[in-house]
Amino acid sequence: MCGIVGYVGTPAAGGAGVDGTEVVLEGLRRLEYRGYDSAGIAVVAGGGVQTRKKAGKLANLVEVLGADPLPAAATAIGHTRWATHGGPTDANAHPHLDASGRLAVIHNGIVENFALLRAELLEAGTPFTSETDTEVVAHLLGRAHAADPAAGLAAAMRAVCARLEGAFTLLAVHADEPGTIVGARRNSPLVVGLGEGANYLGSDVAAFIAHTREALELGQDQIVTITADDVVVTGFDGTPREGRRFHVDWDAAAAEKGGFPSFMAKEIHDQPQAIADTLLGRTDAEGRLQLDEMKISEAELRSVDKIVVIACGTAAYAGQVAKYAIEHWCRIPVEVELAHEFRYRDPVVSERTLVVAISQSGETMDTIMAVRHAREQGAKVLAICNTNGSTIPRESDAVLYTHAGPEIAVASTKAFLAQITACYLLGLYLAQLRGNKFADEVADVLAQLHEIPGQVRQVLDGLEQVREIARYMADTRSVLFLGRHVGYPVAMEGALKLKELAYIHAEGFAAGELKHGPIALVEPGQPVFVVVPSPRGRDSLHSKVVSNIQEVRARGARTLVIAEHGDTDVEPYADVVIRIPRTSTLLSPLLAVVPLQVFACELATAKGLDVDQPRNLAKSVTVE
Ligand code: F6R
Repeated sequence: MCGIVGYVGTPAAGGAGVDGTEVVLEGLRRLEYRGYDSAGIAVVAGGGVQTRKKAGKLANLVEVLGADPLPAAATAIGHTRWATHGGPTDANAHPHLDASGRLAVIHNGIVENFALLRAELLEAGTPFTSETDTEVVAHLLGRAHAADPAAGLAAAMRAVCARLEGAFTLLAVHADEPGTIVGARRNSPLVVGLGEGANYLGSDVAAFIAHTREALELGQDQIVTITADDVVVTGFDGTPREGRRFHVDWDAAAAEKGGFPSFMAKEIHDQPQAIADTLLGRTDAEGRLQLDEMKISEAELRSVDKIVVIACGTAAYAGQVAKYAIEHWCRIPVEVELAHEFRYRDPVVSERTLVVAISQSGETMDTIMAVRHAREQGAKVLAICNTNGSTIPRESDAVLYTHAGPEIAVASTKAFLAQITACYLLGLYLAQLRGNKFADEVADVLAQLHEIPGQVRQVLDGLEQVREIARYMADTRSVLFLGRHVGYPVAMEGALKLKELAYIHAEGFAAGELKHGPIALVEPGQPVFVVVPSPRGRDSLHSKVVSNIQEVRARGARTLVIAEHGDTDVEPYADVVIRIPRTSTLLSPLLAVVPLQVFACELATAKGLDVDQPRNLAKSVTVE
């Protein structure tokens, strides 16, 4: 939530050269998925600080800059906002200036004690121009700097951070220090981009990926000062700290639409690659599975008696799919808990609990807080994450990275499939380590997993029918999704995609639950998607779901059935059959969810909505 960009370059002779506004604008374009309530830029030029800011999407700011350009500058900061304190207005847009107008601040997070600090500043006669918590920080910083200008902006930042409560990333510039940006972070993301004759700051690496792939990870409660040729990191107390350097393994092209009409369309199309890359290089010379970073001993993993998955939204649905697979393969009980509920219910965890935190961004505040709570209780935490340099992997005992590449569309698609894939790898790893499965059995499942990218491609190639239905259903007001076993989280994910992209009422149910209430929703013409398990699976799961299709059909529902090739049992009761290739029931979510993603994307597009930036949402939810 909120995107932050900072740039310090080398001023070229005569003022020419790379322009800070352009660099920051480009970074903001790549970060806009983090919030699009307003945007703004501040530059240090001509002995002062100048800002331009505007409510609404970045395009509005670009218009303002066209009419009233900022001067050329080698130091610039920029912000794209997801509103918390104060509505999405021009006045509340960042950057915010101090009373002297010589210092500008941008901020991501929430300063929880801002009301107290604001009252104190008002009492001292400080004039406020916005309702934001950020402006409080601008004034405090301005006052701290004015009190001791020789100590510099970094010292002022240290003094102010000591007074702030809550979560924040802050960037500040001052007219007296034209080639410097000072940043601070507590519980909110900030990474440094290391360039040649230029350095960068960003909420994530996308902010500077067009300029450098070398980055520096910052820890909690750290202050960073960047100039064109230097980066200095300290703690809030001023003691020197070292960031961890890393290389970003994707390039700017990966964060472009690549000819697709939207990032979402591209990311759906990227899914075979995302799965293949997540599977890549996971076995050692002996064919044994490997994780990325493991600070949990094999003895500890063998003694695990319970797994708790913590995650939010789509990532939590990936966890629900994982539950079926891990319990089946490893015979370890798995609980799946929404991260924001976890720590408030006094969860029963111990040293023998393995907590698995799933997060695309690695910065979801609810999940971070749950990770900390789990570790405080003595549990070991393994992160499944898509973002190198982010907080959740850094604070966990072990990491399994999903290699889905940057996910720009706010609604998660390829990260979901990569998360499920990573969960399967974890389940197989544990099964191998604990002796629940023989090596050849693990190899067998892995071989099936390696076929999935090709099968997802087949699904994607055969979805013209789904696209047509979606366009035809653009006026639909409600859609239900049913599934059993692993099909249940798939149904919930299908409903979530439709809600967030197309703003249509949608519910996902366990098909068996239907008769316990939800079937009352079914009236003639009600569209119902049904995710059907393989008829080759065990038990009577398949026939039960076929009965559920009959039940809703008998009440007039229009049934859209996702079934594997060759399943003829569904045909008499399906208005539409969407075919997916054969795979084992446990792996089938990787195929069954794809038509549902495409359906939501296409329907939202037919309604003329912005599928990449749905209303009210932001990617990476960095506030609780
Ligand atoms: C839905 C969606 C969200 C995220 C959730 C967790 O399409 O994207 O529900 O899955 O906010 O985000 P991460 O995975 O970054 O922790």
